[in-house]
Amino acid sequence: MDRLIITGGNRLDGDIRISGSKNSSLPILAATLLAEQPVTIGNLPHLQDVTTLIELLGRMGVQLVIDDRMQVEVDVSTIQEFQAPYELVKTMRASILVLGPLLAHFGKAVVSLPGGCAIGSRPVDLHLRGLKAMGADIDVVDGYIHASVKKRLHGARLVLDTVTVTGTENLMMAAALADGVTYIENAAREPEVVDLANCLNKMGANITGAGTDTITIEGVETLNGTNHQVIPDRIETGTYLIAAAATRGRIKVKDTDPTLLDAVLQKLGEAGADITQGENWIELDMHGERPKAVSLKTAPYPALPTDMQAQFTAMNTVAEGTGVITETVFENRFMHVQEMNRMGANIDVQGNTAICQGVDHLKAAPVMATDLRASASLVIAGLVAEGDTCVDRIYHIDRGYECIEEKLQLLGASIRRVPA
Ligand code: UD1
Repeated sequence: MDRLIITGGNRLDGDIRISGSKNSSLPILAATLLAEQPVTIGNLPHLQDVTTLIELLGRMGVQLVIDDRMQVEVDVSTIQEFQAPYELVKTMRASILVLGPLLAHFGKAVVSLPGGCAIGSRPVDLHLRGLKAMGADIDVVDGYIHASVKKRLHGARLVLDTVTVTGTENLMMAAALADGVTYIENAAREPEVVDLANCLNKMGANITGAGTDTITIEGVETLNGTNHQVIPDRIETGTYLIAAAATRGRIKVKDTDPTLLDAVLQKLGEAGADITQGENWIELDMHGERPKAVSLKTAPYPALPTDMQAQFTAMNTVAEGTGVITETVFENRFMHVQEMNRMGANIDVQGNTAICQGVDHLKAAPVMATDLRASASLVIAGLVAEGDTCVDRIYHIDRGYECIEEKLQLLGASIRRVPA
């Protein structure tokens, strides 16, 4: 298992390019299971999670042709298996995204039930409830979801109890090939849901309202091939901006979409960052100043993403003043706090709130990554710590950040990967 060694103290300064969105790539790759002809997807990030979904499709007998720029052509006409086995689902919960498409197109699916994970229990009950309302028979046997439908799924009015991103995506994909109209109410409004809807519509689906809390899907008979480029990764974008702010640095992120980051940019502005933006770039400059602590509450889009919470917490550790961060999406998403406190941070967790009194600087310590975004936050902590911080278990980071050490090196950070 590799580790990252970060020698803190350098101000980040430079330009980097943002990769395609992980959270768009996964549902869009799953959506190829709905098509009658090959679908080509571009701007896929080179990430472990993307590789896992590609492997999952490959094991089903789907044909994939990948070029050196991570453009993938997916042809499902050769599919033989309709299963997502435990050994893949346990490494990536988003494997559940194949359930809706398999069921809608082929009438059957067997998908391992994802277990709990470091950030909370994360059930998939809303995915299953929605599919049942659309006519699916669903049994859970020996940890596997067995789903089938006699003829085709049918449209339904679905009201989601909680805003769920992959739940909305799974149901939207299933509804695309159902008989009749499906309404998803209290739908997730995340940009990745919109990207998926745009891709499905290019395949011939009839979806309106994506990006609002009510999505209307008029089922069609078949879906066709298409060519789709995934949107830029807004979480990767935000992570590098926060890293630059925490180090009192300057950064220009290119190939991104500033319109997807309103809440994040507003908080960075409150932290004292000077931000300018163009159509596909954002520049942030701290002019050498220490960031001011920010207070925030995570919530579904367009509010502050839970996937940015740990990184803002890292910035607050060295900010001026006290920041209060409340996590409302996942119940156990403060695993990074104890690690940061071991580096000299002053954070007190009370229930779902982390109260952080900024300190002058952190001190390096060996730390352990517990999940994807927590590991990014520990890298940021390492960048602002005195000495060499060793971040262990970085396989988490490779699930979601393409070439993180190369990109940080380009920005002037001292970071290297070493085998454990
Ligand atoms: C997606 C993102 C993840 C992000 C999260 C919240 C992908 C691949 N992952 O995860 O990066 O952190 O959205 O923005 O896009 N819930 C239920 N029942 C369900 C489904 C969800 O109770 O059937 C609850 C969850 O426990 C959680 C909340 O709903 O408290 C939101 O989770 P959800 O939006 O489903 O997260 P994911 O789609 O798994």
